[in-house]
Amino acid sequence: MSHSNRNGDSSSPVEPLYTLRDPSGETVASLPLKKATLGPDAVDVGDLLETAHLCTFDPSFASTASCRSAITFVDGDEGVLLYRGYPIDELVEKSDYLEVAYLLIFGELPVPAEIDRFRDHITHHTMLHEQVLSFFHGFRRDAHPMAIQLGVVGALSAFYPDSIDVFDPQQRLISIHRLIAKMPTVTAMAYKYSFGQPFVYPRNDLRYESNFLHMMFAVPAEPYHVNPIYAKAMNALLIVQADHEQNASTSTVRTVGSSRANPFACISAGISSLWGPLHGGANEAVLTMLQQIGTKDGIPDVIRRAKDKNDPFRLMGFGHRIYKSYDPRAKVMRRIYEELVSEAGLHDDPLLELAKELEHIALEDEYFVSRKLYPNVDFYSGLIMKALGFPVNMFTSIFALARTAGWLAHWKEMIEDPDQRITRPRQLYTGPRQRHYLSVAERAGRTPDPVFPAGTPMPGEVVVGA
Ligand code: CMC
Repeated sequence: MSHSNRNGDSSSPVEPLYTLRDPSGETVASLPLKKATLGPDAVDVGDLLETAHLCTFDPSFASTASCRSAITFVDGDEGVLLYRGYPIDELVEKSDYLEVAYLLIFGELPVPAEIDRFRDHITHHTMLHEQVLSFFHGFRRDAHPMAIQLGVVGALSAFYPDSIDVFDPQQRLISIHRLIAKMPTVTAMAYKYSFGQPFVYPRNDLRYESNFLHMMFAVPAEPYHVNPIYAKAMNALLIVQADHEQNASTSTVRTVGSSRANPFACISAGISSLWGPLHGGANEAVLTMLQQIGTKDGIPDVIRRAKDKNDPFRLMGFGHRIYKSYDPRAKVMRRIYEELVSEAGLHDDPLLELAKELEHIALEDEYFVSRKLYPNVDFYSGLIMKALGFPVNMFTSIFALARTAGWLAHWKEMIEDPDQRITRPRQLYTGPRQRHYLSVAERAGRTPDPVFPAGTPMPGEVVVGA
C-alpha cells in the first residue's frame, strides 16, 4: 500500500492508519496518522473526498490542523507557550524583540554575526518612501489607527514592484526586512497624524523598541530621551505578542499568501483580521470596559451581562479558543506591568485594582469556572500600554506591530513548504437544490422578506413621509 497522499509526505516513514467506518460497520476509508513533536497528532483526511466522497465538518477549525508548522507551540491545558521550543517567559527575560523575530523567522537563535547583520538591515530599512506620507494625509484625522495601518501597509505593495516576487528567496527576505523595519514607522506616523503633530523620523542609533517610543513621543521642539525602563517594558510587550501559532490573523495571512499574493498585501490582511474585538481588538475593548465599569460596585452588573445569553456582551480579555487554563502571556503581562510601575515610580493605575477584582470575582463564578474562562493576554497588556503613555485606540496597532514577526515567519514557512497549495476549504451546502428562474410577476405572490422590509432607510436615503 502506498503511503503517499495528496498532502505530500511520500518520503515519510510508514504511518499508522485510522479506519473510518460507516454506521453499518463497513470500512469507508483508511486514514494515515501524522505525528506531532508536541501536542495532538493529526488524522490526515486529505484524500477523503476523493476516496470516499465525504468531507469533514469543522467550522472555525476547532479540531483541524490547517498546516504543518515548526514555529510556535501552545499547550492550552497546561498554559505553555514556546517559540521554536523556547518558553515565552525565558525569552522575555533574556532576549529582545529583534532576536525573537529572527528566531521565529529563521528557526534558531542567531549567532553574533547573524544578529548584527539582521539588526543592521532592519535599522537601515526603517524610513518610508516620502510619497508614502501622502497616504496618511488622505485619512480623516479621527481615523482609527488600524484603518491607517492596514491601508498604508497594503499601499507599500505599490512601492516595491522590484521585490515582491514571492518565488524569489532573496526578494522574500528583502520584503521581510522591510516589513519588520517599517511597521514601527507606519504605526507611529498613524498616531502622530491623528492629532496633527509632525511625523518623527526614525533614528538609527536607537534599538528597535526605543526607536518606536522615540517616533511615538518625540516632538521636534525639544529633545526626547527614551526611558530605559519603558524600553524594557516595550520590548517585553513586543515579544509576548510576537506569535501565537494558527490564530485568526495568522491563518488569514497564510490564506491570503496561499494565492501567492505579495507579502505587503498578506500583512495588511493580517492587520484587518486582528482588528476584531474577539482577537487583537480585545485589548482596546478591555480598557474601554474597565473605564465603563468605573468602580468595584459596577462589577456585578458586567458579570451578570456576560452570563446573559440574550446579551451579546462578553467579558473582554477573558476566554480563549486554546487556553483552558491561565494564559501564560497574561501572567507575563501582569508581572511586566508590576515591574514597570515599581521601577519607573508610577502610581498604580486604579484600573489595575479593578481588573484584579474583576478577575477574582470571575474566577470564583461557576459560569466562568465551568467553561474554563481565564484572563487572556489582552486583559493586562492594555494596562502596560496605558502606563507607557499609549492612547487606548493605539493598542491594537501595537499588537499588529508585534505580531508582524510571527505573521512573516508563518508566511515564509508556508511559501517554502513544497506541499502547500492554495487554501480552498470545502463546505456543507445547505442551500436550495437546483431550481428555475421566476419573473418578477411570477414572484408577486411571495411574502416579502421580513429582514429588509419596505421603508428600511439606507445610508443617504430619505424616507418620504417618515
Ligand atoms: N465572556 C462571557 N462568556 C464567554 C466569554 C467571555 N469573554 N468567552 C467565552 N464565553 C462563553 C461562550 O458564551 C460559550 O458559552 P456556552 O458554552 O454557554 O455557549 C463558552 O464560553 C465557549 O465560548 P466560545 O465562544 O464557543 O469560545 P471560542 O473559542 O469560540 O471563543 C474567544 C474564544 C476568545 C473569541 C472568546 O472567549 C471571547 O469572545 N472572549 C472575549 C474576547 C477576547 O478577550 N478576545 C481576546 C482573545 S486572546 C488575544 C488573541 O490572541 O487574539
